[in-house]
Amino acid sequence: MDRNMQHRHLSADEVSKYWPEADATISSMQLIVATRNAHKTCEIQRILGPKFEVRGLSGDDEIPEIHESGKSFEENARLKAVAVSRELPGLVVADDSGLEVDVLGGAPGIHSARYAGASATDNEKIGKLLSELTKLTAKGGQRRARFRCALALARGGHILGTFDGVVDGKIADRARGSRGFGYDPVFLPNGFDQTFGELASAEKDRFSHRACALKKLRAFLSPRTITTERN
Ligand code: IMP
Repeated sequence: MDRNMQHRHLSADEVSKYWPEADATISSMQLIVATRNAHKTCEIQRILGPKFEVRGLSGDDEIPEIHESGKSFEENARLKAVAVSRELPGLVVADDSGLEVDVLGGAPGIHSARYAGASATDNEKIGKLLSELTKLTAKGGQRRARFRCALALARGGHILGTFDGVVDGKIADRARGSRGFGYDPVFLPNGFDQTFGELASAEKDRFSHRACALKKLRAFLSPRTITTERN
């Protein structure tokens, strides 16, 4: 099965119930991203393109921090999308994502953001990951890994759909490149000699976990509302 084909959404009738403007034709769509991570918001805007107006939560101090108590990326994405869409009008998309490393039993997984402690920097997270792999003398295929992304789309506290994306690769021996964010400098996607930290952002956006999931989200949203000339 193609692991990038996971998505679930409500029927057209149910969508119209929770999103009455779904059939209006508009030239651009506003989306709130349930995150304070500016890198994520920026990637989402870049991938969705100019027909979407994407904004994160950085200015919304009144929205409380959401406790990510789910056991999967999808559960956490749903929690964030529902909670934020209860507070703010309009369409809300939540992205829960992270890195799974086979030899670490799938860690850091849903704990990717806090792998080296709540306030650790990206470099500290990468440092911890590389030292864990060194301890295990993990080489070659043992460094297999993947990024996963689950998106949940909600409005008024109701989930309209969930959309997943995966990209397979392995963990490099050392951090390389300064593009992107998080674990990008140590992730070597299959078929490439460059890490996500070295690849141009347009290249990462062609096949990243987030791009795969957003492609499905866009396919769900665009026919409903957006005029089609250049999606
Ligand atoms: P959360 O989804 O906010 O819980 O955090 C996801 C964490 O996974 C981020 O803080 C990054 O450390 C990592 N992550 C998710 N997506 C990416 C990516 O595209 N590149 C690098 N790291 C990522």
